[in-house]
Formats: sequence, C-alpha cells, structure tokens
Amino acid sequence: EQTESNLSVTVVGASGDLAKKKIFPALFALFYEDCLPRNFVIFGYARTKMTDEELRETISRTLTCRIDKRENCGDKMEEFLQRCFYHSGQYNSEENFAELDSKLKHKEDGKLSNRLFYLSIPPNIFVDSVRCASGKASSKTGWTRVIVEKPFGRDSESSAELTRSLKKYLAEDQIFRIDHYLGKELVENLSVLRFSNLVFEPLWSRNYIRNVQFIFSEDFGTEGRGGYFDNYGIIRDIMQNHLLQILALFAMETPVSLDAEDIRNEKVKVLKSMRRLKLEDVVIGQYKGGKSYLGYTEDPTVPNDSLTPTFAAAALFIDNARWDGVPFLMKAGKALNTRRAEIRVQFRHVPGNLYKKNFGMDMDKATNELVLRVQPDEAIYLKINNKVPGLGMRLDRSDLNLLYSMRYPKEIPDAYERLLLDAIEGERRLFIRSDELDAAWSIFTPLLKELETKKIAPELYPYGSRGPVGAHYLAAKYNVRWGDVTGEE
Ligand code: BG6
Repeated sequence: EQTESNLSVTVVGASGDLAKKKIFPALFALFYEDCLPRNFVIFGYARTKMTDEELRETISRTLTCRIDKRENCGDKMEEFLQRCFYHSGQYNSEENFAELDSKLKHKEDGKLSNRLFYLSIPPNIFVDSVRCASGKASSKTGWTRVIVEKPFGRDSESSAELTRSLKKYLAEDQIFRIDHYLGKELVENLSVLRFSNLVFEPLWSRNYIRNVQFIFSEDFGTEGRGGYFDNYGIIRDIMQNHLLQILALFAMETPVSLDAEDIRNEKVKVLKSMRRLKLEDVVIGQYKGGKSYLGYTEDPTVPNDSLTPTFAAAALFIDNARWDGVPFLMKAGKALNTRRAEIRVQFRHVPGNLYKKNFGMDMDKATNELVLRVQPDEAIYLKINNKVPGLGMRLDRSDLNLLYSMRYPKEIPDAYERLLLDAIEGERRLFIRSDELDAAWSIFTPLLKELETKKIAPELYPYGSRGPVGAHYLAAKYNVRWGDVTGEE
C-alpha cells in the first residue's frame, strides 16, 4: 500500500527562510535515504509569483548530500527537483487552496493520497491558512496532517485561543506541533540513556543529583530576525519550548511504554508539578553593540527602546517526590561567546569521602558530573575522579567520554529530517500535545506578564561575552556554578 499510495507535502510559506534552510533540504535527504513513498510530490505555496522552474532553482541552491553519500548526488537532486512544484496563492484564500487541490489531484492520479501541510508562516495567518487548507485541500481518500511551527501564541490565553481555532478545522491527531529540539539526536538519546542503563536511573533523583542545568547559547544575534524576535524574546523563543521540553524528558517518570501517548502523559505530569516561575528566580539580559557588532536595539527591525530579553537565566523547581528542592537551572542567550546546547547534571558529594584531604585536589569541587552535549560536536561524558598513575597518591579529574564523531563517524541527520519522517509515518512521540503546551505556558505566563507590565529592564551585556553577571548571582543563590563544577566552563 505504501508504494501505491501518494504522498504530497505542501510547504506553505515556501519562500521563507525556514523552508529554504531546513524543510526542503530535509525532504531531499529523506528522498535520498529512500524514506519517502515511491509516489510523492512536493508543493511550495506562497504569495510570490514564481514558476515551478524558479522554485526548483531556489531550492537547488540549498540541497546538499551527506559526506558519505556523494555518489549520484547530482542525479538524485535532479530527480527530486522534478517532483517539486509551485503554486502561488494568498494564505487566506479558499479559492487559491482549491486551485492547489486540483493540481494535487492531477498529480495523484486517482490513487489513495495522503497530504501533509507544513505551515512555515507567521502566526497571524496560521488559522486562516488552516481553514482554507482543510476546507479546500484536504485529502478525500487518505489522511491530512498539518505541521505547525512555534510561536504557539505568546502566553496561556493566546495559545489556548490558537488551539481552539485550529481545532475548529482539525482534530488533535491531525495537528503536529513541532519543537525541533526533540528531533535532535542527543535529546532522543536522553530516554535511552536513562531507561536502558542500570547505572543512571537509580541516581536520577534528589537523593543523588544536586542540580541540573540546561544551557543554550548562540554566538550570533538576531540579525535579520528582529521583526519576529522582538515580539517574543528569548524566554518564549528558547526556554518555554526547547529547554523545557528537554527538562520534561529529563525529569519525567518512567512511561508505561514507548507509545506516544504514554510518553506525553508523563511529560504533562512533570510539567504540571512545576512551580510557576517567579521574578526573583529570573535574570534577563540584552546584548549591546561594540566596535564591530551592532547591539540588539541597533537592528533596524527592532525599536530603539525595546526591553525584549535576548538572554535569560532562570531557576525552576519541580514539586514532586523525586525532585523536591533540586534547582533546575536554565540559561539561554544570543550573541554570547560560544554556540552550544547542553545538559549538565551535577551530583552530590560523596558522603564521608576518604579522599577529602591532602590528595592534591579540592574534593568539594570534584563531584561527579554528567554532560550531554546536544551541539555542536555531540557527546556524552561523565566526569570522574581517579588516581594519577605512579607511586604517589594524587587524584585527578577525568572524563569517560562518548564522542559521537569518533564512535559514529556517519553524519547525524538534521532534526527536521526525523520530525518530517515521523509526521509522515504518524508517529507523534516527538510532537507537542495541546495539554502539554498549556502546561508549559502555565509555568512561564505569570512571569512574562510581570516582566512586561513592570517594564523590567534587561541587564546589558557586550556582544560576544558570557552574558550578564546577574546569571552568576542567580546560580550562587542556589549554590550552583554554571558549567563545570570546578568553574571552567
Ligand atoms: C529556533 C529559534 O527555534 O531555534 C532561533 O527561533 C534559534 O532563535 C534556533 O536560533 C536554534 O536552533 P538550532 O537547531 O540552530 O540550535
């Protein structure tokens, strides 16, 4: 059936950045890996007038082959591009979507057909295009699914409103809310690490874990995306979704099975056990310019007096039996000194440590630490203490290190490839259910409102720095040092 049925993927907002950088290249990679059904077509949909050829020309510039798969690359690309078409239309025009529908029907040639719509468009036109797509371009013979990208509203109310509107036209199981961090290799591996090894899960609680850190940093600013970003800020852009999703996977109880609903039930439970974030547990920052870099507010698409944070640090708590009192720290920022995403787990001290004194190391600083480096250069390493070889007795700190590039030289697929494939296969595990989204917003909404009504000014930090010092004090309040326990970052 799979080989006989049709699949169409319509990228709504085909001329946008995300479509060009991520979605088309991911679709090509899936095609190259033989993961798409034999009969598939891809449609770009946007307002710009363009021919099929022009779309192909634009897409072709962004397609790449994996290093280990270079043979036939050119032929494969050509084959792929011949399956790509374009339809120009308004996002709120039923008529234009009806035209798309006839083009799709023509390609589908009467066979059973499944249709996937990828909405890569600004949020103010989500609902209109869903209304038109579902009313006029749904599949009559197979499934119709819609992938939506954040922002899913800007607080609890607007998010609930968006969900209500989407559900007028779609059932929950047709909506695939994407959070591309869930498609990252190391994030998927988090559950494997926890639940398929004996040595971690028994330590996974307040009894052994002192604190957990979720760190996201980028070494570039919002250049070119100021228009979107200024209305959202880093808390909504990164924390409420990407980092919180990782936290939920990190902290949830063991799910009944690997079934999507079982996993998402556990994520919802842990999110519901979290305390609302308070102002005193948050530090916000905004980057300023220097000699060679423009500050955030110097971006022409950003108002000069904008208070939108480009950096935030927060201490979160889960009020349940497993995590009572353990600080979960998050830090996210743009225009910092490095590009990195990682999870750091700092363990407690060894009680009654025999090696506490006089062995050349400050054991207070030498607790075990487990690090999952999500990017770049994926790795999982555990910091341990060991003896320096030789006749004397001196201790040293070293890493048990699983470096992906050494162990798995094959290129790791982009997050969008996995997520698109899951959506095509109807696997919902890595997509956000609406109750999960509500629970996520509840944690951040009161804080976001308070920041905005009180017009809290962000602490300025230089472009390319480590961010505001306030983050350091926030961690210190909970006895935590960011990064390595010894203070190296
Ligand atoms: C997006 C944010 O969701 O994630 C961007 O909107 C951010 O601001 C991006 O740059 C980071 O994704 P990645 O995969 O490059 O780490």
